[in-house]
Amino acid sequence: MTSAAPLDLSARYQLAKHLAQQAAQRGLQLYRQREHLTVESKGGFSQDVVSAADRELEVFIRAELLAAFPEDGFVGEETGTTRLDARCVWVIDPIDGTACFLHGLHNWCVSIGLLVDGVPAIGAVADPNHDELFHGGLGFGAWVNDQPLQVSSATDLRAGLMGVGTFYANGKQHFMPFLGQLLDAGGMFLRNGSGALMTVYVAAGRLLGYYETCLKSWDCVAGLALLAESGGRCNNFLRGDGLLSGNPYLVACPGVYDQVAAMVGPSLDAD
Ligand code: IPD
Ligand code: CA
Ligand code: CA
Repeated sequence: MTSAAPLDLSARYQLAKHLAQQAAQRGLQLYRQREHLTVESKGGFSQDVVSAADRELEVFIRAELLAAFPEDGFVGEETGTTRLDARCVWVIDPIDGTACFLHGLHNWCVSIGLLVDGVPAIGAVADPNHDELFHGGLGFGAWVNDQPLQVSSATDLRAGLMGVGTFYANGKQHFMPFLGQLLDAGGMFLRNGSGALMTVYVAAGRLLGYYETCLKSWDCVAGLALLAESGGRCNNFLRGDGLLSGNPYLVACPGVYDQVAAMVGPSLDAD
């Protein structure tokens, strides 16, 4: 059900920032006691894991968002979807980088994004281990804490690092050929275990780009809202059933985007 009332994006932006930080602090407490968490694997893949912390944080974020904006829709990694026909749809990952979280590695974050009419419009990505809140959105700019973000001005892959990622299902066959081409071009790769963080690192100019063979929307909608405001480019990630099933994913600074897209080849935007 859609409403004709004007949207208050500013209030949603403030709430996204506040909730991402609150959830990240709760996550940090759980991270420090992670040996007590119940852990399960998903889909039979022993490295695709979920813990009680993921579920607890998603239930918290979902309840707060929908209490403030009951008319909005919701997509979460752990608790599913509601009201996908709403103009505003929150897309959240309570912990992105769960494997890192459970193994005591600091690369994890809380990612809260908002789609407005299907377009990434607001994002808040909170990394409590490094005291960084990445945030921004259409008309709001892109920031880490109070510093503005800008993608790299590089035009050569040898000038920096490319984030990369893959998982077992969907598209893993494209991963090694891509790495080979990247290395042949003199580039170098990084996989830190959090797609949300690697996306905002592109927005911040820390990575030249980031390619993942198949990413999920909750990993990247928040970061895509910042990327748009920091001068980055992305593929048509949300095409087809991308919101619910994911798609191949590429974000990069404008100076290397076309070169990297050519390395990935037609699978990047195939139906
Ligand atoms: C994962 C991370 C990882 C990416 C995987 C995602 P999770 O999310 O973003 O970097 O390579 O595709 O599933 O499971 O930690 O929320
Ligand atoms: Ca994730
Ligand atoms: Ca997750």
